[in-house]
Amino acid sequence: MPVLKNIGALARCLPSAPSGEAGVIPDAALVWDGATIRWAGSESDLPREFAGWPTEDAAGRLVIPGLVDCHTHLAFAGWRSDEFALRLQGATYLQIAAAGGGIASTVASTRAASTEYLQARCRSHLAQMASLGVTTVEAKSGYGLNVEQELRLLGIYKSLASGPQRIVATLLAAHVIPPEYRDRRSEYVDLVERELIPRVAREGLARFCDVFVEESAFTVEEARTILLAGKRHGLVPKLHADQLTSCGGGELAAEVGAASADHLEQISETGIRAMASAGVVAVSLPIASLYLGVGPLPARRLLNAGVPVAVATDFNPGSAPSFHLPVAMTLACTTQRMTPAEALRGATVVAAQALNLDWEIGSIEPGKSADFAVIDSDSVEQWLYHLRPNACVRTVARGREIWPAAPSS
Ligand code: NIG
Ligand code: FE
Repeated sequence: MPVLKNIGALARCLPSAPSGEAGVIPDAALVWDGATIRWAGSESDLPREFAGWPTEDAAGRLVIPGLVDCHTHLAFAGWRSDEFALRLQGATYLQIAAAGGGIASTVASTRAASTEYLQARCRSHLAQMASLGVTTVEAKSGYGLNVEQELRLLGIYKSLASGPQRIVATLLAAHVIPPEYRDRRSEYVDLVERELIPRVAREGLARFCDVFVEESAFTVEEARTILLAGKRHGLVPKLHADQLTSCGGGELAAEVGAASADHLEQISETGIRAMASAGVVAVSLPIASLYLGVGPLPARRLLNAGVPVAVATDFNPGSAPSFHLPVAMTLACTTQRMTPAEALRGATVVAAQALNLDWEIGSIEPGKSADFAVIDSDSVEQWLYHLRPNACVRTVARGREIWPAAPSS
């Protein structure tokens, strides 16, 4: 039950504040008890009841809520640097996918990998994400694409729940049509709807059901069928939408009551309006936009229309081979014209909203989970402007130190 004193700037990211406000308190203190925040405010107002509690010193640094990466494809085997090189020579993501590469090639290597190997890779990625201040990670399946393999990937996420970070699993069985179903796509949609979704729901393996709506993946009609089936089984809809082509994804997200629609570089005005009135969060993935040379996401138009904009990495071996969320946040500023405060809110409280977890995480206030990071900087602006390999010096998740890692005895 420590008191962290001498915080130069405490960015609280309160849920009810406007999108441009990080809720910064200068010269602040933070108190937590076990896994829960007890008090946060100006150090001069620290209540007397905490006077005898052990104190720690933040050395005048910036403290932020633990970062929430609300869109990753964490479990996969292999990489795809060959495609990176091909794209640089002019091949497009859709052409590579049509030639049997892309997601299908990661499906082949992931299916062939052992569960132990995939688990160890996920743990290694998560440890590095913890070092960047990330305390919650949404993780999608989607490189298994049959019942047994999708359940295996979600089972890996379940096994990671005892690790340092909170893991939120999403079923993305509708990532692409698996090669063996190429000429009978409706059978695959049936399999997802009738077999996979009910099993995932019954076994409590995922909270969300996601569909990639794109020329190379699923149609709006197929996505509707799958997302509504998921909803009937208690899985909340999410969408990969309007990334490479404008396909009505924003509108579909609003229609099915999705928690978020992600990518959205090509979203239409009607899509924006529909998302605003349905309260759907837009998840921007600036690393994917950068690697594929699409976008940027029209963040200002979305924010002006009242759509909350989250920022996430999309970590995957194709379009976004990096889990560096602070880099994604800096890119959200430079390419999407979000302010540093909006980018921080996007990777904390708004990302928590995209996971329906904003009651528990994403902000620093009494009653919330004790998830925070100490950043070697004096302001949010200075941190996101001065791009460094890593400015995070300490990460606490559910009241436990997860970075720097404790020395093994
Ligand atoms: O979010 N868009 C679909 N899925 C991923 C790409 C996955 C891959 O290329 O392996 C994405 O960009
Ligand atoms: Fe993705």
